[in-house]
Amino acid sequence: MDPARLKAAITPRTKAILPVHLFGQPADMGPILEIADQRGIPVIEDAAQAHGARYRGRRVGQLGVIGCFSFYPGKNLGAYGEGGAMVTNDAQFAARARALRDHGQSRRYYHDEIGYNYRMDSFQAAVLDIKLKKLDEWNSARAEHACSYSSLLKDLPVKIPGYFEDSTPVWHCYVIECDGRDRLRSQLSDLGIETGIHYPVPIHLQRAYDFLGHRPGGFPVSEEFSRRCLSLPIYPEMTGEQVQVVAEAVAEAASKAKAKATA
Ligand SMILES: Cc1ncc(COP(=O)(O)O)c(C=O)c1O
Repeated sequence: MDPARLKAAITPRTKAILPVHLFGQPADMGPILEIADQRGIPVIEDAAQAHGARYRGRRVGQLGVIGCFSFYPGKNLGAYGEGGAMVTNDAQFAARARALRDHGQSRRYYHDEIGYNYRMDSFQAAVLDIKLKKLDEWNSARAEHACSYSSLLKDLPVKIPGYFEDSTPVWHCYVIECDGRDRLRSQLSDLGIETGIHYPVPIHLQRAYDFLGHRPGGFPVSEEFSRRCLSLPIYPEMTGEQVQVVAEAVAEAASKAKAKATA
């Protein structure tokens, strides 16, 4: 979220501001919280990809009124199936969320409103309880890989990910930007290196949101990013050697592309 654009996007219908700590990088929460505070609008953090990340020393998820986490298996803290959680210091929101996840029961057999069956399986909770203790160690390993990638790729014609100096990202994804992204992706694939595109279609151009009336060109930064982004492999168990192999493959593909362009 670009805080400079936030003010202009607020209307009388704005009920909440929802920054996403995308790829494990904390959003720039200082100015976002300041604007939200001035306007009296609650901030709900999407920390689904950022378990353990810090913004100015504080863990994300506790900066807004509510923080939301996903425990989808591929996340930095993933269950062995589906799971998620919200955190809040607001007793009323906490009570309502507890009721909503359990068919709207405020106490057993008393339903104050229609809710959902969103209780987390005990099995998933047990898995997460064990994995939570490893989270910081795993996030440090990701950070080490990200740091190696950045030093190995910094002089290549690809844009390496930046982040706010006073934040500690947790590198859910390591996403570079480059021209000829699809060609680079297929060259890496030929070498057995799997990459990802997060995400090929920006939200405003998803068919599900047609009814909002957005058109191509409406969010040019997201659109350009969707054409240029490429997520390189990153996970805690990766070895330094594997990071090097990927970086070298990117370097080779980039030099081939350059030779082709100048030929
Ligand atoms: C940024 C972000 N927000 C929200 C979600 C949704 O999480 P879940 O699928 O657990 O509901 C995800 C997971 O894919 C995500 O990456």
